[in-house]
Amino acid sequence: MKDIILTYHGQEYRFPLAAGTGGERAIDISDLRTRTGLITYDVGFQNTASCTSAITHIDGVKGTLRYRGIPVEELVRQSSFTETAYLLIYGRLPGMSERQAFSRDLTEASLVHEEMLRFFDGFPQTAHPMAVLSTMVNALSVYYPQYYTDAFDSDIFDIMAVRLISKIRTIAAYAYRHSVGETFVYPRHDLRYCANLLHMMFHCPVRPYEVDPEIENALNRLLIIHADHEQSCSTSTVRLVGSSRVNLYSSICAGICALWGPLHGEASRYVIDMLESIREGRTSIGWCIEEAKKEDSPYRLFGFGHRIYKTFDPRARMLKAECERLLGRFAVSEPLIDIALELEEAVLEDDFFLERGIYPNVDFYSGILCRIMGIPESMFTVLFAIGRIPGWIAQWKEMHDSVPFRIGRPRQIYVGNRERDYIETSDRG
Ligand code: SDX
Repeated sequence: MKDIILTYHGQEYRFPLAAGTGGERAIDISDLRTRTGLITYDVGFQNTASCTSAITHIDGVKGTLRYRGIPVEELVRQSSFTETAYLLIYGRLPGMSERQAFSRDLTEASLVHEEMLRFFDGFPQTAHPMAVLSTMVNALSVYYPQYYTDAFDSDIFDIMAVRLISKIRTIAAYAYRHSVGETFVYPRHDLRYCANLLHMMFHCPVRPYEVDPEIENALNRLLIIHADHEQSCSTSTVRLVGSSRVNLYSSICAGICALWGPLHGEASRYVIDMLESIREGRTSIGWCIEEAKKEDSPYRLFGFGHRIYKTFDPRARMLKAECERLLGRFAVSEPLIDIALELEEAVLEDDFFLERGIYPNVDFYSGILCRIMGIPESMFTVLFAIGRIPGWIAQWKEMHDSVPFRIGRPRQIYVGNRERDYIETSDRG
């Protein structure tokens, strides 16, 4: 592979060209500063690889997404969320006995320490479930202090991974129950992963909730679709925080906070707000499109655009199909889907968006699917977080396995004051 040559101050510097199995080409500048005194500047890391990774690959031009080489469409069709979680974390699909053991461990880890339940008494009922989720996940490090910070311990890692994947569900359900003023429903050992989450969220002795297999399947697919996505903002956060060798729970807590942002995971709720504003006549499809195109307007079409995809996000296609499948199955109508389809059509006919590669992303249909499943809007981003837990864990483990292991610490270009003296208060005017 030919080197890259940089000429600076009349001197040539050769840098190796790194190549990925997905076709990426990168200039390896690991020793740029020591050799040239130069650093690079790349706001938002748009052109910067922070790591090598073998977990997920996105082709932003073809619109493909693969977990450990397997197309997500295949996993949605044939796998389960817990099996996909195993694949992401351990790099291969589990054998029968491994799958049974993993499922058993997840079931047995579904309870949350009783003393942690007292935390909920301190949250106001109006607390945002993502704030509750991040707080309680970090609290796992207090009640389950068996973790390592130095040499990788695979047994301890396995326990932490199972606890997170299993307990995030229980914590999420309790956050919802607290927000509606209802008592907590304990997990059941006879229910599969997604059915247990639905049970803990919606069952009530006076209002028995039977898990509909169609809803359970749709939730499985939703979580698989959200399970990982390369070095997104929240995944990069998990890696950066984890690179200080803080424990896994606290690293994931940071990822949850990053995901909460409207430019990231919370966008699915902003999509609903946008569609509702059109439905109620407060705005229109035309207004949204024209406002998004205005150069000086901060307005964004939520659920559209992506740093990597410059064509359809394959997850948007799958979620759209799932919406249409469920609507057909339940023979119910969902007014927002008609508006969403009309908005999508208008965007895809507009050169402004096509020239910039702005297409529907994962958040455009995910909120509508959650509504059809009966999931309350406050829980949309929480479901995204539950789905992304295995990806975050896999990325955190891969970072810990990396050689050399380095704490993440970017440089900067200083543009502040040059050196100046301290001025006494009396002399400041
Ligand atoms: C997720 O990274 C991941 O993989 C994230 C994610 C995952 O699975 O983890 O895929 C999940 O977060 C999906 C994204 C959800 N967010 C939204 O739907 C919010 C709306 N989208 C935009 O804010 C934006 O598209 C981002 C944040 C998603 C991407 O931002 P970029 O890559 O920094 O792109 P940009 O903001 O620099 O925009 C580039 C151009 C700009 O125009 P110019 O200034 O060059 O003329 O495209 C325009 C933008 O104005 N643009 C949009 C737009 N998205 C980009 N214009 C209107 N509406 C939009 N949605």
